[in-house]
Amino acid sequence: MASKLIISGGTPLSGQISASGAKNAVLPILCAGILGEGPLTVSNVPHLQDVTTCLELLGSMGVTLEVDEKLNVSIDPRTLSSQVAHYDLVSKMRASIVVLGPLVAKYGYAKVSLPGGCAIGSRPVDQHIKGLEALGARIEIEDGYIVAKADKLKGAHIYMDMVTVTGTENILMAAVLAEGESILENAAREPEVVDLADCLIAMGAKIEGAGTNTITVQGVPALKAASHRVVADRIETCTYLCAAAITGGKVTVHKTRPDTFEAVLSKLEEAGVKVTVEGESVTADMEGRALKAVDIYTAPYPAFPTDMQAQFLAMNIVAKGVGRVTENIFENRFMHVDELKRFGAKISITGNTAISEGLPVLKGAEVMATDLRASASLIIAALAAQGETTVSRIYHIDRGYECIEEKLRQLGATVRREAS
Ligand code: EPU
Repeated sequence: MASKLIISGGTPLSGQISASGAKNAVLPILCAGILGEGPLTVSNVPHLQDVTTCLELLGSMGVTLEVDEKLNVSIDPRTLSSQVAHYDLVSKMRASIVVLGPLVAKYGYAKVSLPGGCAIGSRPVDQHIKGLEALGARIEIEDGYIVAKADKLKGAHIYMDMVTVTGTENILMAAVLAEGESILENAAREPEVVDLADCLIAMGAKIEGAGTNTITVQGVPALKAASHRVVADRIETCTYLCAAAITGGKVTVHKTRPDTFEAVLSKLEEAGVKVTVEGESVTADMEGRALKAVDIYTAPYPAFPTDMQAQFLAMNIVAKGVGRVTENIFENRFMHVDELKRFGAKISITGNTAISEGLPVLKGAEVMATDLRASASLIIAALAAQGETTVSRIYHIDRGYECIEEKLRQLGATVRREAS
């Protein structure tokens, strides 16, 4: 059922929460379960709609899935009976494309619906296809499906035209079972790629250089049963730090990995936030100061992530001065701008830059979520706004933020969910 969040803003957030497992790490890791000869047990799995969709997808292929009392998920591919990812599931979640590499590498066949565009851009998958072809897969597009066939993949030297996160993951998961050495140049360096590589290594893969732009893989004939704990969600953590900053509060996020979001911490400091890192905990504290507008340029890791752009734009609209947010990864990732204007925000868009002039106060409004991170920016703005805000189409947020209203309430926010 469609639901909406109703938020009464104006209270500084204060308190402590724990980070959940990373959405963008757990999805490829669950799909890596296809590659083994025995079960892969994954812990720190966040309770998210995208995880449910991913498990539905694996289940539709005949994979045996088990969830234990600690919510660890075990994926046993020995019962897999279909190598098809149908349109209805792929269209719900683009990340489904990451079954392509594992399926063709292990079974020599995969039929995966083309993901198509989404609210933030056209998002082609040409690099995934190019990489798998370089490893020897024969790929055709038939009736909206990518059909990949191979006898045995062979290691190759692959130059990616641009940095792609799921593209790197798909090729990496194929290369681990290819015969001989594969070298991926211009690979994505995101912490989620490193976490996937760590999981594959636990399964017996031979991978070097994950986290750098050159990943070298020595193919192995088979991967074994293993366990893996998913890395903390850096985007979720940073979203809560922004919520602390915009409300003039103080929030600590525990069980996180501050070394994976240093570019964001540095921008928070530039915005006037006192940031303290202690081991696996990070605190954002405004200490009574006012926010300063900052300029943002999104780029692949380790630069500032596109997935935090919308949240920083929300901060800029109530910060002192003019801020420029430039989106360099996706061509249409400013859907939140018109919605933020409903709070009274002054924002104009020139090319791929959103220029904002900060206002002293925002007014609660009725707004609509358009994609996952856009929803996060609306919630952040609502927490700072005077009066009540209703955020509709909240299913977007449930794809990527675990128990968001419980975590916000734990920090003192007044928020409730209602059926639309
Ligand atoms: N691109 C191509 N061809 C390809 C692949 C990518 O042209 O074959 C382009 C894309 O259109 C885009 C750029 O390359 O302009 C980078 O896209 P990338 O492939 O890195 O994005 P992705 O792998 O589809 C992941 C995350 C996104 C995150 C981006 C960028 C997952 C499941 N998704 O997407 O997360 O924004 O990397 O960091 O890992 C989110 O969590 O809200 C989200 C959208």
